[in-house]
Amino acid sequence: MAKVHCLNPIAACGTDLFTSNYEMTDDFAAAEAVLVRSASMHELELSSNLLAIARAGAGVNNIPLEDAAKKGIVVFNTPGANANGVKELVVAGLMLASRDLMGGYNWVKENASDPDIAKAVEKQKKNYAGNEISGKKLGVIGLGAIGAKVANIAFRLGMEVYGYDPYVSIDAAWSLSRHIKHIKDLNEIFKECDYITVHVPALKDTIGMINKESIAMMKDGVKILNFARDTLINDDDMVEALNSGKVACYVTDFPNPKVAGVDKVVTLPHLGASTAESEDNCAIMAVKEIMDFIENGNIKNSVNYPAVDAGVCETGGRVCICHKNIPNMITKFTGVFGDKGNNVENMVSKSRGDFAYTIIDTKDTPRDESIAAIKEIDGVVKVRVI
Ligand SMILES: NC(=O)c1ccc[n+]([C@@H]2O[C@H](COP(=O)([O-])OP(=O)(O)OC[C@H]3O[C@@H](n4cnc5c(N)ncnc54)[C@H](O)[C@@H]3O)[C@@H](O)[C@H]2O)c1
Repeated sequence: MAKVHCLNPIAACGTDLFTSNYEMTDDFAAAEAVLVRSASMHELELSSNLLAIARAGAGVNNIPLEDAAKKGIVVFNTPGANANGVKELVVAGLMLASRDLMGGYNWVKENASDPDIAKAVEKQKKNYAGNEISGKKLGVIGLGAIGAKVANIAFRLGMEVYGYDPYVSIDAAWSLSRHIKHIKDLNEIFKECDYITVHVPALKDTIGMINKESIAMMKDGVKILNFARDTLINDDDMVEALNSGKVACYVTDFPNPKVAGVDKVVTLPHLGASTAESEDNCAIMAVKEIMDFIENGNIKNSVNYPAVDAGVCETGGRVCICHKNIPNMITKFTGVFGDKGNNVENMVSKSRGDFAYTIIDTKDTPRDESIAAIKEIDGVVKVRVI
């Protein structure tokens, strides 16, 4: 029975998926699998029986990835599990950028005690008028889990959608509506679009991508949405462009002293994934990843080991090996099984950085002496028989 420890409360719709082959434990040191949200694991001693850590969420800076990899502990996260939550807030962002909902709401609140408010509204409403998004051009930068969903829904809301992502994954590309215009030159998005929304991670080539130069290329009165990361936007350049009227509105999920409270900026307190459904999706995905790993040895959505999927074992036994990514390992593994009389029926091996992972299915149950010999090979980190 596999022991599972939760370092944070994990939604029951996830943990309820564990079958009778799993047992929840309060003892971190005894666990073979750990579920975590934001608790820091950097100060914790990772025991030798720990096989997997699953983060119910995307960011993994609370987990010592390198240390875990060295100990053969596979770390998972749940990319895309909160994509729908963020997408829906981006739709709200499009509306916030188009209709002066905040101005109108504040005016009503300030005049709530006026007995003639209903009459006053008719005079005041022109101050909060806006525009519709239908027929406008939206540029989506980054077509991953979130960007692809945003592009598709914006098209269904009547927008003409331009999408840019030079590294788009096959999954995301398949999920994109054929009506999304595939843009190869980012400047085309800057020059053509009425609205621009960024959905890329903060990387060397994306940090500060919305800056003085890119804004200069944009249409006057462009509206910019940022539900990805604060560092993608050069805040000083943005504030200058808002003051000059070049940018009509900036909607961001990342308040900071430079933009919070600035006129024509709508700031939200990082609400993108703050939905009950996102939490549930993350919990379900994290638990499924753990179960597939414990039961089949498969790795999906790991951040420190490669993705390896050998399906369900249909032979006499399966051996899963976490090892260093160094020459000759596969030859040594197959050599051991050959020498000890275990026929290898199926094998998958992949590497990622300094580490690799190999699944070997043998015709018969692998012999104890084969497993002992595999463990002795220099560069082998962890061996597990399923
Ligand atoms: N506001 C929130 O609460 C919230 C919640 C979840 C995620 N996010 C952020 O949203 C962003 C996107 O998340 P996701 O789940 O869609 O990630 P993802 O990994 O599925 O997608 C990111 C996409 O960006 C693309 N990309 C990378 N570099 C690029 C470049 N230079 N130009 C264009 N495209 C590029 C990648 O190819 C990928 O398709 C991340 O930065 C994430 O941190 C925010």
